[in-house]
Amino acid sequence: MAKVISEGAISFYQHYPKIAAILTAQAKGKDNAMTVDWHTSLSLNPPLYGIAIAPERFTYQLIIDSKEFGINFLSFESAELVALVGSTPGSQMDKFQQFNIARSEPVKTQVPILQDAYAAYECQLVDDRAYGDHRLLVGEIVAVHLLKEAFTPEETLDLDKVSPILYLGRELYLTSAKDTVRKIL
Ligand SMILES: Cc1cc2nc3c(=O)[nH]c(=O)nc-3n(C[C@H](O)[C@H](O)[C@H](O)COP(=O)(O)O)c2cc1C
Repeated sequence: MAKVISEGAISFYQHYPKIAAILTAQAKGKDNAMTVDWHTSLSLNPPLYGIAIAPERFTYQLIIDSKEFGINFLSFESAELVALVGSTPGSQMDKFQQFNIARSEPVKTQVPILQDAYAAYECQLVDDRAYGDHRLLVGEIVAVHLLKEAFTPEETLDLDKVSPILYLGRELYLTSAKDTVRKIL
C-alpha cells in the first residue's frame, strides 16, 4: 500500500495511543487537576519527569507559583473523569468539588494526590522551558505512591488488576487487552 508523505503541519495523532494521566497542582490554597497525554520519564538518576503544557492552562500558573506538581495514573473506570478535567477550566471552578475527586495526602509536597490513582508521583519543579506553543516542565520525582496490588512482583502493571487509560485523540479512549501481552526475548 502506498504511503502518503506530507511536509510541515501534522495532526499529531499519528503516534497515538498515549497514556492519559491527571496532572495536579496547588497554590495559595487552591487545588486543581487537568488531563495530560504529553508526559514522559526523562531520567532515572535523578528521577525526572516531563510534562508539555500550554502556558494558558490554569494549572501551569499554579505550578509556577508553587514549584510542584503531581502526576496521577488511573484505571479505565476513571476515563470519564479524565475527559471532564481535561475539558474544564480550573480558573472558574473547583474541579475537586465539582467532580467529587477524592484526595490522598502527599508526603513531600503540597500537591493533591488522587485516591483512585494506581500510581502517582510527587514532583518538585526543576526546569520550565518554552518549546513552540508549549512549555516543558521538568520535575524531580520526590515521592511515589503505588497501589501494590496493581503491580506484578516484577513491578510491571498487572493487567488482570488494572486497565490503563489510553487516549487515541479526538475524544476517543481505549484500554489494553491482557491477552495481547507477549514476553519477547
Ligand atoms: C486526553 C487529553 C489530553 C490532554 N493533554 C494535554 C497536555 O498534554 N498538555 C496540555 O497543555 N493540555 C492537555 N489537555 C488539555 C487540558 O487538560 C485542558 O485544557 C484543561 O481544561 C486545562 O485545565 P486548567 O485550565 O484547569 O488547567 C488534554 C486534554 C485531554 C482531554
